[in-house]
Amino acid sequence: EQIEKGGYDHFMLKEIYEQPKAIRDTYRGRLLREQGLIKMAGVEDNMKKFLNADRILIVACGTSWHAGLVAEYVFESFARVPVEVEYASEFRYRDPIITDKDVLIAISQSGETADTLAAIKLAKSKGAFVFGVCNVVGSSISRETHAGAYTHAGPEIGVASTKAFTTQITVLTLIALRLARAKGTMTSSEYRTHLLELELIPEKVERALESDSTIKEIAAIYKDSPNCLYLGRGYNFPVALEGALKLKEISYIHAEGYPAAEMKHGPIALIDEQMPVVVIATRKGHYEKVVSNIQEIKSRKGKIIGIVFEGDTEVKGLADHVIEIPETEEALSPLLTTIPLQLLSYHIAVMRDCNVDQPRNLAKSVTVE
Ligand code: G6P
Repeated sequence: EQIEKGGYDHFMLKEIYEQPKAIRDTYRGRLLREQGLIKMAGVEDNMKKFLNADRILIVACGTSWHAGLVAEYVFESFARVPVEVEYASEFRYRDPIITDKDVLIAISQSGETADTLAAIKLAKSKGAFVFGVCNVVGSSISRETHAGAYTHAGPEIGVASTKAFTTQITVLTLIALRLARAKGTMTSSEYRTHLLELELIPEKVERALESDSTIKEIAAIYKDSPNCLYLGRGYNFPVALEGALKLKEISYIHAEGYPAAEMKHGPIALIDEQMPVVVIATRKGHYEKVVSNIQEIKSRKGKIIGIVFEGDTEVKGLADHVIEIPETEEALSPLLTTIPLQLLSYHIAVMRDCNVDQPRNLAKSVTVE
């Protein structure tokens, strides 16, 4: 097992550090920047289904559901197609309205999650076209779907999902860009900028990983907090949910993720000097509004950990700590903002002597209801 961990203390840390390679492997052969093309056989072969779809339904569980939420923002913005994201477990039992004009995308690292598999079977029985985004090759979900695209993240052993999440977002972003190109919903300069930026993501993830020692210091300060709040907006609202989930899963600290603007409708009541609040405040996304949320937290003496783009000065002046990530297009920023949140939960869990790779009560894949 030590050899498999490749010199890292835990699989989770190894998998966090594998993300530059995993993301590159995911777009290799698919993102042909110089030709300005995206090639994915499963999408190309079924382009009519995608283009004729009234809407895209996304079903998943856990971290994969968070990737689906990011994809909702990306698909709607790039390809101007309505998207609905559902927990597979809810979708399958509520007699949902599904037609043969629907495209359903099922996202699953393992490809074995029982609820997701059941949602796929239901959608197929109603005539929908079902597309899978799986990591495990030959898994049940990859076999049950009409077509799909693998994430190529390589085996993920740690129960808390890390590289599966960022590679799922990568695949979904590629699909959204491909559809945008086909539909003409993005200008060609925007399209090319996103191809270029996507290609730069692996090296930017490397740079984001360089904040590890800063993050470890922050972890040491907050490791005994009973609660933690995560806030983000737009593309980074689902990242806030995912950051909170990571902390819950492996450190057993109660954490909640919220869209930053919803703070005033509840979570603000929880803020006092004991409460760490992780705020994703990337310069392009509703920045000024998030900055005013930070001011509200500060005036209630909450402790602020800001996730910002390099060179940010405004949040730096307000927050107790800032973690910088390289700047990118807002739609791609979840691929970077996620990194410090993974590391923060990892270090806190290690400092609390938790079993990082196999947290209590959790399974890597849930094959029963
Ligand atoms: C379990 C795992 C999570 C995962 C979820 C969905 O709860 O512990 O990490 O996100 O299942 O799994 P899937 O394999 O369908 O992505």
